[in-house]
Amino acid sequence: MEDSAFRPRSLDDFVGQAKLKDKLNVYLEATKSRGEALDHVLFYGPPGLGKTTLAHIIANELGVGIQVTSGPAIEKPGDLAAILTNSLGEGDILFIDEIHRLGRVAEENLYPAMEDYKIDIILGQGPAARTIRLDLPKFTLIGATTRPGLITNPMRDRFGIVEHLEYYTDEELAGGVTRDAVRLGFDLSPEAALEIGRRSRGTMRIAKRLLRRVRDYAEVANESNISLERAREALNELGIDSIGLDQRDRTILESIIVKFAGGPVGLDTLATSVGEDKATLEEVYEPFLIQRGLIKRTSRGRVATERAYTHLGYQPDPQSALF
Ligand code: ADE
Repeated sequence: MEDSAFRPRSLDDFVGQAKLKDKLNVYLEATKSRGEALDHVLFYGPPGLGKTTLAHIIANELGVGIQVTSGPAIEKPGDLAAILTNSLGEGDILFIDEIHRLGRVAEENLYPAMEDYKIDIILGQGPAARTIRLDLPKFTLIGATTRPGLITNPMRDRFGIVEHLEYYTDEELAGGVTRDAVRLGFDLSPEAALEIGRRSRGTMRIAKRLLRRVRDYAEVANESNISLERAREALNELGIDSIGLDQRDRTILESIIVKFAGGPVGLDTLATSVGEDKATLEEVYEPFLIQRGLIKRTSRGRVATERAYTHLGYQPDPQSALF
């Protein structure tokens, strides 16, 4: 896969998230010197910021194994027990992505596993069924979620380390793509790296993807080094504008401005008007548009801000209560 081949393997090699890295360094050192398993870790934050990458780095830094699964992949009652009893060694890591999507039963099975390194397994069915309690190796659960609000309190309370991943600055994103360019063996000018950073929505995964697309353009043009001009041209060609909006984002903003006079417009109406599924609009597009101050959520619906008007080249509406 695109992502994994260039994943950093050490914290030193992981760009950005400085405060989090400082803390992790302390926890890892302490864990190593005690020779124990690391406390359970919960990473939360928007997608594409490196939660999975950090889980792999932690395993690598501790020199332990890692098993990777996800909330929705653990379906049957036996799934979790199978992973915990078959494939984990002392000190190993179990990484559960999208842990907020874990079913109730699996979640409840996980509690004694996290707390006492034990799991209850039901053998047989009906009146003859009995429960046996198995000992597990002392493992570390690393959970990742984009929706921390959906994690139940008892679940959250069982993590000793709960950490948020932040959006990256443009410079950090530039650092990330520069690192990848070196590994891919081509020359990326610092200005081009920063331009990619600016258009990547604070998200490392997007920056890395854009770098690869920019490289495609350079390759076709037979250029081995990527200049600012080449990067700009490629990004424009991809429909990514100067602040990282793509065509869908612009359609959403334009719809609020043009069809609904800047809003407020309800989520349902807006979703229908742009032909987008409501949940996708709310969970994928809106967070970024809100974070960049382009729309606001009000009690009466979504409103385009002055910044949205000027960015798209419209005259802000003087009637609007927002301005
Ligand atoms: N890959 C994913 N996240 C990264 C980061 N923050 N730095 C470098 N490479 C990464």
